[in-house]
Amino acid sequence: MTECVFEQTLLRGAELLRQADPELHDLLDQEQIRQHETLSLTAAASIADPSVLVCDASAAGNVTTEGYPGARYHAGCRHVDEIERLAVARAKAAFGASYANVQPHSGSTANQIVLCSLLRPGDVMLGMDLSSGGHLTHGAAASMSGTYFTAVAYGVGADGLIDYDDVARISKEHRPRLIFCGGSSYPRAIDFARFRAIADDVGAYLVADISHIAGLVAAGLHPSPVDAAHVTTTSTYKQLCGPRGGLILLGRDAGYRTASGKTLADTIQGAVFPFLQGTPRLNTIAAKARALATVASPQFRLLARRIVELADRLAGALADNGHRVLAGGTDTHMVLLDVSGDGTTGIVAQRALEACDIIVNKNAIPGDRRSPRIASGVRLGTNILALRGMDPPDVTDCARLVSTVLREVKTTGESDYLLDEAVIDLVRAEVSELCRRFPLPGYPLPSPLASGYRSYAG
Ligand SMILES: Cc1ncc(COP(=O)(O)O)c(C=O)c1O
Repeated sequence: MTECVFEQTLLRGAELLRQADPELHDLLDQEQIRQHETLSLTAAASIADPSVLVCDASAAGNVTTEGYPGARYHAGCRHVDEIERLAVARAKAAFGASYANVQPHSGSTANQIVLCSLLRPGDVMLGMDLSSGGHLTHGAAASMSGTYFTAVAYGVGADGLIDYDDVARISKEHRPRLIFCGGSSYPRAIDFARFRAIADDVGAYLVADISHIAGLVAAGLHPSPVDAAHVTTTSTYKQLCGPRGGLILLGRDAGYRTASGKTLADTIQGAVFPFLQGTPRLNTIAAKARALATVASPQFRLLARRIVELADRLAGALADNGHRVLAGGTDTHMVLLDVSGDGTTGIVAQRALEACDIIVNKNAIPGDRRSPRIASGVRLGTNILALRGMDPPDVTDCARLVSTVLREVKTTGESDYLLDEAVIDLVRAEVSELCRRFPLPGYPLPSPLASGYRSYAG
């Protein structure tokens, strides 16, 4: 038995939960088994290493305080101050940033904090529209970003790519005070320097949201926006394999003076607390610190490289199987499919695949005429396949299974379908075998990230 109080508490907690609340205990267990036994091609997710999970579950979450290390509004912060300082230092190191704020509760919150600190209500902002791959917080009508500000949108061209000349034209026409780049379902690399030139032309702030590609950026496999943009935001649970949360990063513009005369760094610091948030989640900040340490490791770089390789293979194999891969492929972890050519809808594809234990999500595609609840596309990603340790040939198998379902499903309504039981059984059996061969990190074997990631040589 361990002597460590922190470890004893967590072990005791699991034991107590089993005894005191078997219903909840079993649900948590079943959820972890579901994650292991289904093939997740979810682009917006990853798997947090168990060493990240224990930080999030730790008693650091019992500390109530406000403010920042060394300037808290409550006593008892000497250890959590060190934890937050560590998280900030690791975030700065992982991204080569000159400033990092690790307190945002989510990626959306990080974006809202940036918007509310740099704009006044009603100011014009420019972001990528939702069906072209932007995020709700980039000015969509359904979110506060499109309600409290005057949101203007850019899209993608017929080739599915950002048309930078068109972005420049829209920007000159509407003269936004802030431009968002980065997206939720844009599979190609983003030219942050080009976006900065467009922003500078009209005196706008450039905000890069790298929620989806933060791991590739940290690993040097996608150009970094940290110095190109005024502000960079990200969520921490996608490619960073961290807890649910957000980060705000600044690079060379940290000392830039805003209209109020304050530096950008001071503006963001005051915008996170006290302007928009209250007490920080110090347990989650510890989990961010842990995840950011692994992000800086050579093993993570191998993982990131493998994520991109697998996505390229996935896009190629799906195109070879006759599906319409949007944007002509991918530069990232993400593959976007137009399933209308398969005679189905996004929601039917998502449901039929889930019936076969393959998890994807429906997604609007550029120019989509269907509602986002139905959608004409699905979004796939390879973060979790890479974390499972798959090789490109295994991803060809995954693509074949996806294709089998899309070919066999009979779409009987926008969200209704029929799928032969024999097909379901066949696909599920292959999925089960793949999941058994490639267990998730931390289930039930030691995590590859914690123990030195498997070598991808050859
Ligand atoms: C580009 C982008 N920004 C922000 C977010 C929001 O992150 P969170 O779920 O942490 O609020 C997402 C999540 O899907 C995203 O794709």
